[in-house]
Amino acid sequence: MDRIIELKEVSFSAQNQEIIRSISFQFREGTATALAGPSGGGKSTMLKLAAGLLVPTGGKVFFRGRDIALMNRRQNMEFRRQSAVVFQDSALWANQDLYQNLELPLRIHFPQMTRPDREKRMHEVLAEAGYKKNLLIRPAQLSMGEQKIIAFARAMLCRPGILFLDEWTESLDDESARRLIDLVKYRKEQRDTVIFVSHDFRIIRNLADYIVIILGGRIALTLTGEEIASDAHLVRRIEKGIAAYEI
Ligand SMILES: Nc1ncnc2c1ncn2[C@@H]1O[C@H](COP(=O)(O)OP(=O)(O)OP(=O)(O)O)[C@@H](O)[C@H]1O
Ligand SMILES: [Mg+2]
Repeated sequence: MDRIIELKEVSFSAQNQEIIRSISFQFREGTATALAGPSGGGKSTMLKLAAGLLVPTGGKVFFRGRDIALMNRRQNMEFRRQSAVVFQDSALWANQDLYQNLELPLRIHFPQMTRPDREKRMHEVLAEAGYKKNLLIRPAQLSMGEQKIIAFARAMLCRPGILFLDEWTESLDDESARRLIDLVKYRKEQRDTVIFVSHDFRIIRNLADYIVIILGGRIALTLTGEEIASDAHLVRRIEKGIAAYEI
């Protein structure tokens, strides 16, 4: 299976603190990988490094064998178009209404697209994600859960092939969460690559082919979906908390 994103001895430091310590990992095309582990372990930071949103202070990140740091503008735009990113804090543009939040990625990546075509695509992703309300309001006028739904819909607009998702169902009601999990499952069945952070072992068991447990900025353990499915004892130990990660 092809590696699509590869981290080679990647480190990341900020404010004299080493947050990621020489992580090497290959994400395989068409698979789903969960980044799990306790709070503050470095999951979100690793996800942002893999997505090219943070620049490593050591090591390299490759997309289809190409060093992300050395991509030219066109290659970088293409990587961005192929990547969907949903941040832990949703990160919608606060000073733009929802219509503008959704329209901008299409304007940037598909400048030839007509306004009716943009609106058609916007309504498709909103219907899939289950948002039915007004678009002429700003993100601050939405609940946290609604912001997540819009952020997810926005991430899917440009038909990405790699999904980087950080706790994308947190603070959603069960029905909305179910919907956003099923959408990701469907994307995986369509051979998209999914890299996601979750604390929820039900989601991990449902989606992940590989599980990477991050502890203190390092990979403490990697597991396969089958290992998780077949070893209830292991799952219980992982669910129990930090001590259990040190298997
Ligand atoms: N830009 C930054 N400057 C300084 N410290 C940072 C920065 N970004 C993250 N950290 C620190 O790095 C550590 C890892 O943060 P990260 O957000 O990656 O953890 P996480 O595993 O995603 O945690 P959670 O499960 O709570 O979301 C934390 O201790 C955090 O305070
Ligand atoms: Mg996090």
